Order: sequence, then C-alpha cells, then structure tokens
Amino acid sequence: MTHILAIDQGTTSSRAILFDAQMRPVGTAQQEFPQHFPQEGWVEHDPEDIWSSVLHVCREVMETTGVSADQIAGIGITNQRETTVVWDKQTGKAIHNAIVWQDRRTADICARYKQAGCEDDVTAQTGLLLDPYFSGTKVKWLLDTVSGARERAEAGDLLFGTIDSFLIWRLTEGRVHATDATNAARTLLFDIHSGTWSAEICDLLDVPLNLLPEVKDCAADFGTTTLLGGDIPILGVAGDQQAATIGQACFQPGMMKSTYGTGCFALLNTGSQPVQSKNRLLTTIAYQLDGRRTYALEGSIFIAGAAVQWLRDAVQIIDAAPQSGELAAQADPNQHVVLVPAFTGLGAPYWKPDCRGALFGLTRNSGRAEIARATLESIAFQTRDLWHAMQGDWGADADVILRVDGGMAASDWTMQGLSNCLGAPVDRPVMQETTALGAAWLAGMKAGIYPDQAGFAETWALDRRFEPTQEQVERDAAYERWQRAVQAAMAF
Ligand code: G3P
Repeated sequence: MTHILAIDQGTTSSRAILFDAQMRPVGTAQQEFPQHFPQEGWVEHDPEDIWSSVLHVCREVMETTGVSADQIAGIGITNQRETTVVWDKQTGKAIHNAIVWQDRRTADICARYKQAGCEDDVTAQTGLLLDPYFSGTKVKWLLDTVSGARERAEAGDLLFGTIDSFLIWRLTEGRVHATDATNAARTLLFDIHSGTWSAEICDLLDVPLNLLPEVKDCAADFGTTTLLGGDIPILGVAGDQQAATIGQACFQPGMMKSTYGTGCFALLNTGSQPVQSKNRLLTTIAYQLDGRRTYALEGSIFIAGAAVQWLRDAVQIIDAAPQSGELAAQADPNQHVVLVPAFTGLGAPYWKPDCRGALFGLTRNSGRAEIARATLESIAFQTRDLWHAMQGDWGADADVILRVDGGMAASDWTMQGLSNCLGAPVDRPVMQETTALGAAWLAGMKAGIYPDQAGFAETWALDRRFEPTQEQVERDAAYERWQRAVQAAMAF
C-alpha cells in the first residue's frame, strides 16, 4: 500500500488529496458547498452537503488517479474547527444545520457568562475565551432551542461532534464516535491540561457528557471505512490549523506558522508547557502524539482571504482573487486608505464580536487600486497585531521566523507586504498544501509508510524568503494608522 488519502473539509469547500509514498500530492478533487446565512451574523452548513461533498471528492480523486482502496494505507482527516453538529445516534441525521465557527448567534450567551464572572475559570481550563467562535455555547444553543433536543440529549439519543467527528462517524457507518485532542481543544468543553472533557464546564454550559466523543491522539486508530471500494483505516486527525502547523514541521518551541485561508490563523509552538496569554491569544493543543501534548499560542483572525472574496463578490472591483495584488501594486503611494475588515467582528487580540468593517482615509482620488491595497494590507496589519501579542507572551527577543501557507501565501505582493509590515523575514515553503500534508503525514506515519517526526521535518523546503525592504519610520507610521482605524471601528 503506497498512498494516503487526505480529506480537508474546509469552511467553503471539501477537498480530497492523494499523496504517494514520497508524500507528493498526485491528485486533488474539490467541491464547494452552499453557505447559509439565515440571519445577520449567523452562518450555517447543511451537514448532508458536507458529507456528500466529502464522499464525492474522495471517489473523484480515486477515479481520476486510478488509485484503488487496496493501494491506500490510510486516511487523514483535517477540518474546519469549532463548527458544531448534533445528530441522532439511531438515524444519523443532524437535528439542525451545523453552526459554523464564524457564527455569532451565541454572543449574548457568552456575555451572560462573562458578566457572571466565569471567563477566568473557563480560560484556565480550556485556554480559550468566552467567545461565540467556540463550540460549547453553540451546543448549548442547539439543545436549548431545537424542540425536544434537551430531552433527547439527556436520554442519550444524541451525539455532538466537530466536523472531524461527524465524518468519522459517517465514514465508519456509526461504529466510531471519536475526535482528536486538537479538535477537542476548540470546543470550550475540554481541559487542555489534563486532556479530558471538563465536567465542570459541561455542567456550566448544560452540555451532557454522554454527547461527547472519545478523544484520541492525532495519529491513532479512528476506525475503518468500507465506503470507498474497500477497507481503509482512518489513522490521522487534526484541526486544519494544527494540521498546517504539523505540515509546516513547526515541531520546535518558538516555531510559528500563519495560514491565509478564509481567515488567518497563526500558531506558535510553545512545547510541552501551555503558555497562558496576557494578550488575549488562545492557548491550544498543537498536536498530541503518543499521549504527549504539545501546546501552541494561537492568534485567530476571522477575515483574510474572505476580504479578497469581498473585493470580488460584493464590491466587484476584481474578477478573480489573483488580480488583487496587481491592482494593489498600482495604488497611489501618497494615499493612506485603511480597511478594517471586521465583517464578522474582530478576533484576536480584540475579541469584539459586534464590531463591523470600516474604510478610512478616502479622498476623491481613492479608487479600486487603493481599496485593493488597503484590503491586502489589512491582512498584514492583523498579522502584526498577533505577532506583537505573541512576542509579548513568548519573549520579545525570541528569534521567531514566520512560515506562511494558504491561498494568499502564493501572492508575492502580499507576502512582501507582510514582511515589510512585520519588519521580519517571512518563509514560504515549496509545498504549500501544508494542511493536507499535515493530515496525510499523521496517517502515513501511523501506517508506517512515512518518516518519523524528525525525518518529516527534514523534508520541509524553502521556496522563497521575503525580507523587509521598508524603512522603519514608514512601517511604524502605517501601523499607527491601522491602530487608530481599529480603535475607531470598535468605537462606531
Ligand atoms: O477555526 C476555524 C478554522 O479552522 C477554519 O479554517 O481554512 O476552513 O477557513 P478554514
């Protein structure tokens, strides 16, 4: 058996990538699925769309590459994190659409718990904050809102899972209800220090323990699927940002990656000790292997690539995402237009779910190019916010080099701008499918066909290092404008 099938179930599409014995991607299939916005600030997915798209892309990639089930040593799953599904144990049907990580409907529930003084305790155990981003309050909302759900939950008829867990359950046809430590760490229900569900927080959020999946290492036996033309074991699972951290081989404390997808998520490996942030970053599990947890500080930005989609779909000043860099390069350097892309609130380090986006500094000469530049720059400024917060928590003198990936990392203009904004080098690897690679490596390592951690780290190869070319005074002036714009947006 020579191949590994990676499933990357993301926020807007499902992808399946087949890797060969040398960890090279040999085929990819991708399918988008509908997004549902039933009310302002609400974001839902139909779990059946997620499931059918996953099954479709797996079958398609096997068909187009001619790789059959008996050539696949294992499946690695990586997924959009925090998105919450509750389903019926008997029928397998979800009781409601999945509530997506971006969904803000539980902002009031979070505010109530905060007012009651619960946040410090929740943070101490979970490493997270009382924000609607995480699964815990979404589960509470579902059980409190869907008719009959609480009674069914208490009778043991329902199961909860993040997307990995839902897919494992479906792929194994209901035989396995499990998740991995990285996904569990995003639920707000998991004690990241003991590596177990927190009975205390489950009690606080009225989530019965019998709903929760078994938590395993990232490389483990998650059951076998027979739905892809033969028996294939599921051997690797990690949330997508953790999978990218693994795929970027950020295995040493002080190594950091930033992934530019829908949002931007920066993770800094802090080793075997969790670091509690003083700067409103999250403490999370980077990976768990052989029962040993490695922790990370995480900065989560909700809008990165989604801002470029906004340029294309809402304001319609580009036809395709790659045009944004070309357009930005034509902007008048003497104009200082600033975009705060708080379309779904602000994440780290501000955590303002009710803040909304704003454009500042417009003149009569401001046009498409200036708005495109402001959009791409906003991504760099947000990364710098995280960078400062991480340096504050980890030690300002620490020599941290950022490894980047995700769709926007392909844009030289954006990555050069990022390096200028940070005043630090930015490394882009040859292999930019790091999320899928991370999931594939977990499964392939468990199957015994891929190298161990050290051997895998040696395969990481640099495509290009971006070095800062901007003067310090310009960098600081631009960042100061950004900070003023964020304060103004939050005050609006
Ligand atoms: O925490 C949310 C994150 O996992 C979503 O990632 O790549 O689907 O936007 P992505």
